[in-house]
Amino acid sequence: MFVFGMESSCDETSAAVVEMGESVRRICSNIIASQTETHRLYGGVVPEIASRAHIEAVSGITRRALDEAGVSPGDIGAVAVTARPGLIGALLVGVCFAKALAYANGIPLVPVDHIKAHAAAAYLSHPHLVTPYLCIVVSGGHTSIYKVISYTDFEEIGCTRDDAAGEAFDKIGRVIGLPYPGGAAMDALANEGNPDAVELPSPALAGDTLDFSFSGLKTATLNYINRERQRGVEPPRADIAASFTHAIVSAIVQRADSALRMIGMKTLVLCGGVAANSHLRRALTVLCERLGVAFVVPPTELCGDNAAMVAAAGYYVYQSGVRADTSLNASAI
Ligand code: KG4
Ligand code: ZN
Repeated sequence: MFVFGMESSCDETSAAVVEMGESVRRICSNIIASQTETHRLYGGVVPEIASRAHIEAVSGITRRALDEAGVSPGDIGAVAVTARPGLIGALLVGVCFAKALAYANGIPLVPVDHIKAHAAAAYLSHPHLVTPYLCIVVSGGHTSIYKVISYTDFEEIGCTRDDAAGEAFDKIGRVIGLPYPGGAAMDALANEGNPDAVELPSPALAGDTLDFSFSGLKTATLNYINRERQRGVEPPRADIAASFTHAIVSAIVQRADSALRMIGMKTLVLCGGVAANSHLRRALTVLCERLGVAFVVPPTELCGDNAAMVAAAGYYVYQSGVRADTSLNASAI
């Protein structure tokens, strides 16, 4: 069946059509209107501006997604929309638009969790992927490990106790003068630096936990940069990027290793915006080869926020029998 997806949880407005079924998982269209350039002026996402930009973009990208897929609303079996978590004003734009689209055309409406949608990107890039699997979601807002029991049943077994990895990348990127969002630029810059050049504390937490904590690492990096600047020295940006990336990647690899041994899953899925990080992808590939675990990561263009992943996740919500009506609300958490 064709599923229409709508995503507006942060600063990307996206509409997509996917075809999903027992033996088909296919992207028919996936239109993304990014607001990055607008928010770059402010060094981060401004929620009010994001909501307004979603309103301006939403009808146009919906039309383009339907046209590019060659379908009309009458061909759509379900409308899937990100209902949580995210910026509340931004989410409401997508939710209200999806409600209207579904109601006006008599199409079933299904609410989607943005985190589960990130995992669903992997179904589109790896059509043979089946549950159960272990999933690491690393984005601007989340860093969590899930035991994915079924397509709709996720058990969180670890999460960050403070900052998300993407948020930490963006913060350090900004301080060393990289444009917002700094994640991708930090990735590239890290290739030119020495990961052992700056001594940083390990973000590992004591004990048997699968949780993460990146705020201590972030503060230590900021302190190092400030100390050097106070001495009149501009610290080497590439070495900072390489050392910081190394610390984050090591923490994620260490938790992935523990989780895989503890839970005993045979497949690891990496997803979310930070899954585009080349160093993280390489390190987890090595880990999974060593453990004899299949490693699945979507191509970088499906790691960031997009509506195809929302539509793919929505298909399984639909299959589970869940339906929303015009009382559907958005939730920031
Ligand atoms: O999943 P996403 O698009 O939005 C959220 O749900 O948060 O993730 C965005 C985050 C940003 O923090 C961005 O800097 C980061 O993903 N990111 C990266 C890379 N590409 C995007 N972080 C590290 N390395 C990358 N290559
Ligand atoms: Zn996201």
